[in-house]
Amino acid sequence: MKALTHIRRALGIDIRRGKYSYGYDVEVGLISASRVADTWVKTTCGYCSVGCGMLVGVKGRKAVTVRGNPEHPVNAGKLCPKGLSEHYILTAPGRARTPLLRKNRALTAVSWDEALDTMIEKIGALQEKHGSDALGVISTGQLVTEEFYTLGKLVQLGFRTRNYDGNTTLCMASAVSGYKLSFGSDGPPGAYADLEHADVILLIGANIADNHPILCQRLDRNKKRTLIVVDPRVTKTAMMADLHLPIKPRSDIALLNGIAHILIRERLIDENYIAQHTVGYEEFAAYISEYTPERVAAITGLSEETLIRTALLYGRARAAFIGWTMGVNHSTQGAVTVAAINNLALITGNIGRVGASPFSITGQCNAMGTRESGFASSLPGYRKFEKVEDREDLAKLWNISVDRIPTARGLAYPDIIEAAVSGKIKALWIIATNPVVSFPNHSVLEQALRSLDFLVVQDGFHPTPTSEFADLVLPAAIWGEKEGTFTNSERRVSKVNRIVAPPGEARPDFNIFLDLAGRLGVRDELYPGWTMPEDAYTEWQRISHGRLCDYSNFSWQEIEERGGVQWGGSRLYQDGIFQHPDGKARLHSVPCEPFIEQPNDEYPFILNTGRTVEHWHTRTKTAQVALLHNMVPNAWLEMNPADAAQLQLRPHDRVTVFSRRSSVKNVELRITGIVAPGQVFMPFHFAESNSNMVTLGAYDPISREPNFKQCAVRVERSARN
Ligand code: SF4
Ligand code: MOS
Repeated sequence: MKALTHIRRALGIDIRRGKYSYGYDVEVGLISASRVADTWVKTTCGYCSVGCGMLVGVKGRKAVTVRGNPEHPVNAGKLCPKGLSEHYILTAPGRARTPLLRKNRALTAVSWDEALDTMIEKIGALQEKHGSDALGVISTGQLVTEEFYTLGKLVQLGFRTRNYDGNTTLCMASAVSGYKLSFGSDGPPGAYADLEHADVILLIGANIADNHPILCQRLDRNKKRTLIVVDPRVTKTAMMADLHLPIKPRSDIALLNGIAHILIRERLIDENYIAQHTVGYEEFAAYISEYTPERVAAITGLSEETLIRTALLYGRARAAFIGWTMGVNHSTQGAVTVAAINNLALITGNIGRVGASPFSITGQCNAMGTRESGFASSLPGYRKFEKVEDREDLAKLWNISVDRIPTARGLAYPDIIEAAVSGKIKALWIIATNPVVSFPNHSVLEQALRSLDFLVVQDGFHPTPTSEFADLVLPAAIWGEKEGTFTNSERRVSKVNRIVAPPGEARPDFNIFLDLAGRLGVRDELYPGWTMPEDAYTEWQRISHGRLCDYSNFSWQEIEERGGVQWGGSRLYQDGIFQHPDGKARLHSVPCEPFIEQPNDEYPFILNTGRTVEHWHTRTKTAQVALLHNMVPNAWLEMNPADAAQLQLRPHDRVTVFSRRSSVKNVELRITGIVAPGQVFMPFHFAESNSNMVTLGAYDPISREPNFKQCAVRVERSARN
């Protein structure tokens, strides 16, 4: 209720039917005169991948209020605290307003001409000397799809470097890789509606009550469901569960294999589906025979009865849904864990039907857009670098010679950072992301940034912890100041609209990209006649035509009119035809390995990291929204009462968290049974108490996603300061 009071005060409206925990019903009643909107602009939330539709109220030239769009299929009028306060970001302080170039050590305001000419000249000189791959580019999940499509061509065909990746690799690269392993392509098979129709919902490593709050209302509407939540921590989502499985950290693969074992033993499998639509069952069944309930109970810390109960619930469901997010993805075994999830869906035929799907819940508002159109870890339209037909196809569509298209992806995000440290990457262009806070093992990241000859940071805000390292800052328009489309977790493409003009000289990223293309001399070739993002969309429709992620059937106008359109329809793989050449899905035998840095006497705790509903990733935006900042102004560390007693720590003590790498000082201690003994938890949002000072630089060999979720730490009361 406290949060609600805050919202009510800050919005100056009367919330008559408020309900905290997931989603507010807002009836706009008594509104103070200064907040009465003259017009309402329809758009899509720019924070998380749920993709809520909203109406932003404008008075004069100012955004004064926000409400959920009651007609939008995703949220039916509800918004979470971030969405409800989103208009404040358009008047927030801390914006980058003019290009800044480092001259005699100080960032100095310069014209756009000087900024972009300098960028082309510096990068060009470094590429000439060290080869074109000496440029690295790290983008984001925050831009509109039109910008991702434009940027991909610019980086790969204009700047001619393959060393291009997104912060999405810190987030759901493992889901992408896992889908490819099982189904032959990326592409989340299910839909949010499945949460309303499934009779069993298994959420694993997914704290949706904090991270995807508006999805929770789907669970509310589903009266017959059994909700099983797998999480080492008693999250808000776990508190909603019918059955919470508090597994030991990173024992998820053993659990998934153990469920498969019981399903096979009890013949709760769909033999027809397996025979017609999968490859590798015999081998899989033989492999899984080792994962007896007894052995899995020992690895996971769950009882055999609980394992059997879980497997029977899943196996007897008419329609069973498995959703996951970072608890699964943030792992050196993330990609194969996703394959283990898909195994369960495949052997029971729980895919491509209403309510039945394995389903990755993505993070950022448009992480999906860059996966599909981005030209970073794969070619646009889920085409593959390795496949000659795919390269030829694109070369023809683009009217360029096929040898300009790389035959393999370049370095992934963590490998770009390592290459900067070793001096292979000389110039880095970072767009709308903040690695100084979000990248694991901070000291290596900082070393990378300091080793560069030239760092460009393009962002809506300055200073950010990352832009402070820049040699050149390019001020960008943010959500609400530009136009395009976002694609949400369920493949729904929604329109994002311009509400106000960007501040100062800030420009939409799209315009920055086209301007750079002009200076590189590739604008006419790569972007013939383009002036606005819709031109990119029109070409993207042509490029995606006939692909799994086919956008060719709906124009910008239709997206707007229909309130968002799911590419591929409600569900993928309804016919059981997958994207591997033989049309069949693959079952994978996935080993359960212990995580790399096990606790010991010196570092006795396992540190887990995650998010809270009030904030968005590194708080570049939400720290500037007073309402959100004041709700949760600082980081904290959760510790079990038994451990706190042993260490003689008391609630609200300031503690320091040490790992083998570094430490985070003066973190507020919360003593709580939310975490099990031996484990501690810290949110990763806070630059001031950065959990990534201590996290581990270990990466999934397939997806290259960092292992953010487990590292060994020690906790001590901070020295008084
Ligand atoms: Fe919806 Fe996510 Fe925006 Fe909240 S942050 S309003 S859940 S899209
Ligand atoms: Mo992710 S935060 O879906 O890139």
